[in-house]
Amino acid sequence: MDLSKQYNNFAKKFSEIHDQGDNSNRDNRKTFYGNIDFIKPGVKLLDIACGDGLDLEHYKSLGAEIFGLDSSEEMIALAKKRLPDAVIKIGSFKKIPFESGGFDVVLSKYAIQTSSDMGPVFSEIYRVLKPGGIMMYLVTHPFRQYFEKRDETADYFEQKIVDTHILNNSILVKEPTHTLNDYLNDFLFKNFDLQFYKEYWDAAAEKIGGKKYPGYFIIKAVKRY
Ligand SMILES: C[S@@+](CC[C@H](N)C(=O)[O-])C[C@H]1O[C@@H](n2cnc3c(N)ncnc32)[C@H](O)[C@@H]1O
Repeated sequence: MDLSKQYNNFAKKFSEIHDQGDNSNRDNRKTFYGNIDFIKPGVKLLDIACGDGLDLEHYKSLGAEIFGLDSSEEMIALAKKRLPDAVIKIGSFKKIPFESGGFDVVLSKYAIQTSSDMGPVFSEIYRVLKPGGIMMYLVTHPFRQYFEKRDETADYFEQKIVDTHILNNSILVKEPTHTLNDYLNDFLFKNFDLQFYKEYWDAAAEKIGGKKYPGYFIIKAVKRY
């Protein structure tokens, strides 16, 4: 199964509910938006899994020149409907269909964990950023993925495809698990200056075994000159 295409199956449902009432990703969106004071008018910004374009619309309202990318045709159609004038391309964040060194900012929310290998994702983000450009992403926390293995004897280090229930159990997504080291890896420390690492509880994610644990984290880093 091509995990990068799974959103085609529920794009419309995702789009209808992810900014509605309690059954929503509103908390993490608010948290993410609380960390983007670097988005100023004229900034050239790429969202590398833009979904239905809700976030791009916000970045546009801040004055950014927006560009989008997503692997789901259905999501792209919704994003283009929302933002008819924006350049939004179909493709993968593992082979970003934009030129090298063109962006001041590359953002991604709840998406890059769907790649089993972070290597190509980070090298592609690095490639399309200008020197001094900012990468910020939010991903499913490895703690949450560890619990999603649903096994008392689960091996944290072994990659497994797990079921992840999002938006208050209304949508089921398949994702490969990751370790923290997959994200905080040698490539990151060699090529970027890490500005922050912040972890959060996600009220819209499934609470497994009654436990409270970090649902996602956000990393902000600057491409070295
Ligand atoms: C949970 S949704 C998040 C959408 C949006 N970032 C948001 O926060 O509303 C994950 C998105 O990642 C996209 N995606 C998954 N794998 C991808 C890949 N390899 N390349 C680009 N997009 C991908 C999906 O199609 C989906 O739109």
